[in-house]
Formats: sequence, C-alpha cells, structure tokens
Amino acid sequence: MILVTGGAGFIGSNFVLGWLAQSDEPVINLDKLTYAGNLGNLQPLAGDPRHIFIKGDICDEALVAGLLERYQPRAILNFAAESHVDRSIHGPRDFVTTNVNGSFALLEAARAYWQGMGKEDKAAFRFLHVSTDEVYGTLGPGDAPFTETTAYAPNSPYSASKAASDHLVRAYHHTYGLPVLTTNCSNNYGPYQFPEKLIPLIIANARQGKPLPIYGDGQQVRDWLYVSDHCAAIRRVLEAGRCGETYNVGGWNEMANLDVVRTLCGMLDELAPKAAGSYAGQIVHVQDRPGHDRRYAIDARKIERELGWKPLETFETGIRKTVEWYLEHDDWVRNVQSGDYLRWLDTNYANRDAGHGAETRTSA
Ligand code: NAD
Ligand code: TYD
Repeated sequence: MILVTGGAGFIGSNFVLGWLAQSDEPVINLDKLTYAGNLGNLQPLAGDPRHIFIKGDICDEALVAGLLERYQPRAILNFAAESHVDRSIHGPRDFVTTNVNGSFALLEAARAYWQGMGKEDKAAFRFLHVSTDEVYGTLGPGDAPFTETTAYAPNSPYSASKAASDHLVRAYHHTYGLPVLTTNCSNNYGPYQFPEKLIPLIIANARQGKPLPIYGDGQQVRDWLYVSDHCAAIRRVLEAGRCGETYNVGGWNEMANLDVVRTLCGMLDELAPKAAGSYAGQIVHVQDRPGHDRRYAIDARKIERELGWKPLETFETGIRKTVEWYLEHDDWVRNVQSGDYLRWLDTNYANRDAGHGAETRTSA
C-alpha cells in the first residue's frame, strides 16, 4: 500500500480517487483536515476498504512512525501543505510549521522506517515530495521557462517554505540515501479546488453575482495544468522516476490572468448565461498582491523524454470540464464556503478596496 499525506485537499483527493480508479493497491490517507481539507472530496470512496483515512498532522512524527510501522507502505507521497500564497502573506507561520517542520518530521519518520526495512523492500521504497514551480521565483517576458537546474529564488513565504522542504528532501537523499523523488508542478485547476484560488473563485463569484477580482493589471502569467494530468505525472514519477531526481511538470500553457478570467466568463456565458449581459461585466481590478511574481513557465521536456509523460488535456478541454464540474456541484461550493471561508474573504479583499487606497476599476 501507499501512504498519501494531504489526500483530502484539492490535488491529493484527485490523486487518491484517480489511484483507486486504476489500481487496487490500498491508500492510507493522512490529513489534518485544515480549512482546505474536505472529506466530502472522498465521498465516492465511502465504505471502500482500499481507502484508510487518518485524521492527523504530518508534524506529529510519532503518529507517522506508528502508521508506517502498522501499515508498512512501500511509498510515501507528500501532498500535505499550506498552499495559498495570499494566506502565506497574511499569516506565514502555518506555512513554516507544516511545509518545513512537517516535511522534516515526515522525512525523519521515513528515514527510520526505511533504515529498518529488509534489503528488497528498502530498494523498492520511495518518498515522493509534491512541490511547485514557484520555488524558482519569477521570470521576465523573454526568459526561458524553468528547468530542473534553474536556481531556486522563492519570493513568497509559501514558495520559500516549499523551497526549504525541497532542500530537506534533497539532503535526505544525498546524506542518508533515502530514495526520494520531487515533482515541481505549475498551477493546477480542476474539480475540488478550494474557491480561494483564482479559477474556482472566479466561477463561484461569477455565479453569485459578486465582483471578479483581478490583482493589479492582470498581466501576470501562469502555466495551467489540469489536475488529472498532474496526478498522472506523479504516478509515472513514482513508477519510473530516478531516485534523487526532480521532475518539472507543466501544461505548456502560459496565460495571463486576465485572459484566464475572460475565458471563464465566455464559457459561463455559454453554459449558464445571465439574464442580461456578460459575466465579464463583473470584472474589477483590485490592489496587487505584495511581491506578486510576474511570470511562471515550466519546461517539462525532462519528464517527457525520460518517462514519456505528456499532458492529455489542453486548456480548452480542461477548463470546459472544470466549469461544467463547478456548475454541477453548487452544493460542494456552498458547503466549503463556511465561516472560515467568509472570514478569509474579509481578510484578503477588504483592504484592496478603493477606500483603502487601492485601485478598483472595472474592465471587460
Ligand atoms: P490544498 O491546500 O488544497 O490541500 C492541502 C491538504 O493538506 C489539505 O487537505 C489539508 O487539510 C492538508 N494539510 C495541511 N496541513 C497539514 C498537516 N500539517 N498535516 C496533514 N495534512 C495537512 O493544496 P493542493 O492545491 O491540493 O496542493 C497539494 C500539494 O501540491 C501542495 O504540496 C502544494 O504545494 C503542491 N502544488 C500545488 C499546486 C496547485 O496549483 N494547487 C501546484 C503545484 C504544487
Ligand atoms: P492563485 O490561484 O492564488 O495561485 P498562485 O498565486 O499560486 O499562482 O493565483 C493565480 C494568479 O491569479 C496569481 O497571479 C494571482 C492571481 N489572482 C487574482 O488576480 N485575483 C484573485 O482573487 C486571486 C485569488 C488570484
């Protein structure tokens, strides 16, 4: 069996659902169920004996050690993290705690477990760390995309905490020989993404008649990848990746935020038209994110060349599936828009109003 951490979050739950759709190998799913973790994402697995859910913290080394001892997994896949850049700006502490100390605790438990394994199990064991392209910092318009040898230059508390965890993972390979793999992926989108991130936030706000907030000029560029393609890349790296290596994962799909939002508005106009006018009329420009990275772009040739992975979805096919999923899952969206979510909207967007010296203008 495999141990997945953070498997009740956006990518983790897509991964667990995808894994058990293709394999009978059981999954132990360790998740703290922070605001971002949602057991509802795993509802299709209710009563399925192949899925063992444990509510717990990756920082709790004794808990992790006990789980490893009891279930004897052949691999650990670390998805658990605080993952939202804006939250890391408002409150970086949780990011250091989970992303740095938590990854460290997990590595320590994994090291002790792995060192006690028999020869064959030891050779087959893998620790796969799920990371982000944000560790590489920001690119100018004409710069080449990030490769696996691009120097780390994280700019937000989120990316700095992920970079720190990547370094620890690397060090455990070089120092102790722990068989680690790291993936650095671009921005994901798809079902079950918490509506604090750009794409689900825009869909939810559009539907609820609220403003669609664009930070600054909206010309920041991200590379977007449909979540099931990311999950397939992780499965492939687990299966055939070379220990100690890192693999960049991306969709070859760079887009400016304003273009992403306009695309979403166009799709919503088609699939769920308003009584009058376009959703694009709800677009507003608000104060920019402090230290906002201008551009991310991933060179994903290594994983294609070495492991034969390529994304299956284009942005057009992936975004349509995503919008359709959110339209069919209003109940899921309403469910996660809880007390904490509403408090977060107040914290993040209140001080971006014109009344607080920020820029607010509409654009369509
Ligand atoms: P998410 O915020 O949706 O989910 C994170 C999950 O981790 C939640 O279920 C949460 O309850 C759990 N968690 C948080 N702290 C924990 C702790 N201390 N112990 C146990 N569980 C804990 O995040 P996501 O978007 O699914 O991202 C998953 C991973 O992928 C993260 O490591 C993130 O850095 C990485 N990543 C995300 C993206 C993206 O676009 N979302 C892109 C590249 C890499
Ligand atoms: P986000 O989904 O938070 O991912 P990340 O910051 O990890 O790339 O944001 C994606 C882009 O969208 C990023 O450039 C910030 C921008 N953005 C907005 O313009 N408005 C918003 O309300 C949010 C949440 C993000």
